[in-house]
Amino acid sequence: MNDIAFLLNGTPVTVSGESPTRTLLDWLRDTRGLTGTKEGCNEGDCGACTVMVTDTGGTRALNACILFLPQLHGKAVRTVEGLTGPKGEVHPVQTAMVEKHGSQCGFCTPGFVMSMAAAQKNGATDHDDYLAGNLCRCTGYAPIIRAAEAVANAPVPDWMTENLGALSGDAAPFAPATSDELAEWYESHPDAVLVAGATDVGLWVTKQLRDLPEVAFLHACTDLQEIENVEGGWRVGAGVTIAALRRAMEDPHPAFAELLRRFASEQVRGAATIGGNIANGSPIGDAPPALIAMGARLHLRKGDTRREIALEDFFIDYGKQDRAKGEFVEAVTIPDTAPALACYKLSKRFDQDISAVCGCFNIDLKGSKIESARIAFGGMAGIPKRASAVEAALQGRDWTLATIEAALPAFAKDFTPMTDMRASADYRLETAQNMLLRYFHERSGNPVSVLEVEA
Ligand SMILES: Cc1cc2nc3c(=O)[nH]c(=O)nc-3n(C[C@H](O)[C@H](O)[C@H](O)COP(=O)(O)OP(=O)(O)OC[C@H]3O[C@@H](n4cnc5c(N)ncnc54)[C@H](O)[C@@H]3O)c2cc1C
Ligand code: FES
Ligand code: FES
Repeated sequence: MNDIAFLLNGTPVTVSGESPTRTLLDWLRDTRGLTGTKEGCNEGDCGACTVMVTDTGGTRALNACILFLPQLHGKAVRTVEGLTGPKGEVHPVQTAMVEKHGSQCGFCTPGFVMSMAAAQKNGATDHDDYLAGNLCRCTGYAPIIRAAEAVANAPVPDWMTENLGALSGDAAPFAPATSDELAEWYESHPDAVLVAGATDVGLWVTKQLRDLPEVAFLHACTDLQEIENVEGGWRVGAGVTIAALRRAMEDPHPAFAELLRRFASEQVRGAATIGGNIANGSPIGDAPPALIAMGARLHLRKGDTRREIALEDFFIDYGKQDRAKGEFVEAVTIPDTAPALACYKLSKRFDQDISAVCGCFNIDLKGSKIESARIAFGGMAGIPKRASAVEAALQGRDWTLATIEAALPAFAKDFTPMTDMRASADYRLETAQNMLLRYFHERSGNPVSVLEVEA
């Protein structure tokens, strides 16, 4: 087994003998004494552990608490200790945080400055968005945003350039280099756990304290990270991150891209993959309802055998998917024709929150008639699920408020939602119905945004 080799604050390091599920955060703090990177939640929610990770694809802010060491092989990691220059020069984001009074107790501050430094390096100016994964309990966000604004156009210090060429080109440990290699290995190790972005699997380790006997990391399979323009749409590799998918969908499917903006936080979107979001089979995953509403197809592979199914058929029951042992998700094909797609995510917070209900609507009209309707929901059943009875109640009818209202009772045929900490069953059913009403009004040009209500 090769060592794990990466740049740590500009200096090459090699790690051997560590468990493949050792998190970067624990390793930094326990073995390197780099305690500037803080542990808040240890589950990707608070951003106190944010570090910068650079690879050939660029620089990302990621949560060190749910990053396993093998995921860093061949990359550059920069912690808050590496933000200052070689002669102790302070990074402009640090100066700005001081000048704008962006820190009180200071616990969140290392995470904030790392997110800001990554954004500044990438020229990002959507400060609310890229800082949404960093929580502060005492300062309040206004001074922090002022600091981010102040520094947005400052030059990036030259010590922030990473020399990836200083690393040897050894193969990544615990990680097949191609999907062919993965297919062969996984077929003969079908009980292994595949780790893509680790934004779900990370929590099995940090929160459920599970030992994972055998793992394979997918991040080195670059052929799974491609988005290909194919006839009728896009074939999106399972290893494409939510951040990359969001960028790719901005033009063809802006409603889907906007839904992905609401997916977790910058740090999670930069690690999480579309394959992981589908394969985990969660009833509250955000991408599946939108993809099902668009009519996406799923590509599965076991050894040399490939098959393709409608995405909705993958989700059989809670915790049960149509995936054989040793079979993995290779890609998903997203059709290019869904101009009327709308996605509504309802969660307790706007940012960085899991959906209570996620409703996606894709209704085609021919003249004043409803030609076809594809409607799918997350959070309404044990799986992401189509609203078939509602669709049937709409199909072929006039596109009028009367038709929509007549279809509302059909939601109770499609779904028997549960009550949990996010929402009650009654609330879920009612809001799902309201989402259809909203879709009707939105398409009819009536104001629906709470920011645009007119008397
Ligand atoms: C703080 C936080 C906020 C979150 N917010 C959201 C949110 O708003 N919306 C949302 O939908 N999700 C959210 N999630 C959940 C998570 O980010 C997503 O489910 C993500 O897409 C998982 O992708 P991953 O690459 O990290 O998967 P991993 O954690 O690596 O894997 C997840 C599962 O999929 C399997 N797997 C991964 N890739 C493949 C493959 N190619 N073939 C077969 N099996 C595979 C793994 O074995 C595992 O069972 C959040 C998570 C965190 C920590
Ligand atoms: S410690 Fe909270 S996100 Fe990592
Ligand atoms: S300064 Fe105290 S948590 Fe942010």
